[in-house]
Parts: sequence; C-alpha cells; structure tokens
Amino acid sequence: MGEQFPKTLTLPYMRKNLVVAIDGYSSCGKSTLAKALAKKLGFIYIDSGAMYRAVTLYFLRNHIDMNDPEAVKDALQHIELNFHSRDYESHITLNGEEVSDEIRLMPVSDAVSEVSANKFVRKDMVKQQQRMGKSKNIVMDGRDIGTTVFPDAQVKFFMTADPKIRAERRYKEMQSKGDTSTSLEEVFENLAHRDYADTTRVESPLTRAEDAVILDNTNITPQEQLDFAIEQVKLHFPQ
Ligand code: DC
Repeated sequence: MGEQFPKTLTLPYMRKNLVVAIDGYSSCGKSTLAKALAKKLGFIYIDSGAMYRAVTLYFLRNHIDMNDPEAVKDALQHIELNFHSRDYESHITLNGEEVSDEIRLMPVSDAVSEVSANKFVRKDMVKQQQRMGKSKNIVMDGRDIGTTVFPDAQVKFFMTADPKIRAERRYKEMQSKGDTSTSLEEVFENLAHRDYADTTRVESPLTRAEDAVILDNTNITPQEQLDFAIEQVKLHFPQ
C-alpha cells in the first residue's frame, strides 16, 4: 500500500528532547498510534498509563490504604519502575519484576482510577516522566501529557473515539490475550467509569490542551491515523 515514508522518518534535526504528547480517553488507540509514531521517528515510546497501573498493582498487593497519605507516600518510596523497550513494545518492571501483562487485568483496571487520582502518586509519576523527556526524543501517551507533564511539547494529539467502538476494540484485544473472563458489558462499564473519573478528578483531569490536534479514530484505520499524525509532526517539528 504505497508506503510514503522511509522506514524511519528522517527529519532535518538532531536535537534531543523533542516530545510528542498523546492524550485521550481510555482505549481509544493511543498506544497503537504512539508505538507506530515512535517507530517511524526513531523515538522512545513511553506508556505513562503503565506506570499508574504498576503503582496500582503494588498498592493492591500490599493493601495500601489510599485514605492514609503517609502510607501512600511511604509506599511510593518502595516502588521502582523501569521500562524496557523491545520492538517498540513497552515492557514495564515493578521492582525488577516484569508486570506488563498483569497490569492489564481487571483488578488493576478497576482500581487504577482511584490510585491515579491521588496527588502524591501523580506528583511522583510526573517527576519521573519529565526526567525521561529531558535528554531523549520521546512519544509519551496518557491523560495529562500535553497539559501537565510536557506543556511545551512540540506536537500534541488529543484522541477520541465512539465509546462503543472503544469497548469492542478493548474486548477483542483482551480475548486475543486469553482473558475470556470479562464480558463486553464489563469492559464498557470500566471504560465509562474511567472516562468519568479521569475527566472529573481534581488533580490534572483529562482535558485537551488548547494546542492539541484532535484525532477521532472511530472511522479510520491505524494506517490512516499514522499518516495523519506524521503530517502533523512534519508541520510542528522545528526544521
Ligand atoms: O492509558 P491506560 O488506560 O493504561 O491508563 C490507566 C489509567 O491511568 C487511566 O484510567 C488513567 C490513568 N492515567 C493517568 O491518570 N494519567 C496518565 N498520564 C496516564 C494514565
């Protein structure tokens, strides 16, 4: 299908700390776009949601009381997160343990909204995320990347899609990974709950940065959205 660009897009810059920020609702394909774009640009892909999920997993395993600020702060001191990128798939370790699959399961999905709304958790994660963008070129996806983490990012996307389509896509993905215990209705409800929690929380709610380009992918293919995103990158990156 008439590939328009070389495998890795060569743009006339050698600068470090170029940032592509991708925000949007749950399960609307942010990571699909972020990975493809990172690959095309030769940038590092960072899945900020995986960080909130890994923290949630730690809190669940260690029965951390979210209403106890001291317990939350103390727990954060005992959490070390690292990313290992293989073929642009991002793998995350929690204190050295690979948890990339476990953080996608329903117990974490059900608890992550509460954990990610916590101000101590957010402060800690944002600091780590900003450090990652200091000396590298990155594509980072999440909810507050273009607004709070990297307000000066050169390119910002705000992604959205029809909620029913999003639930169906997520459901299919879970089925393909062998998670057959969750129904489509449960997936839909979890997404609706997370959208509501993400957009109404006090700390860094999900909102479109004024300078973010809206990308609604309800009716477009991953290739079409990648082509669109690359055009935007070419427009916005310094030449
Ligand atoms: O992208 P995801 O669905 O894997 O993210 C999991 C949760 O983490 C999501 O419900 C909201 C939260 N999150 C956040 O609050 N801020 C981010 N930058 C990324 C994710």
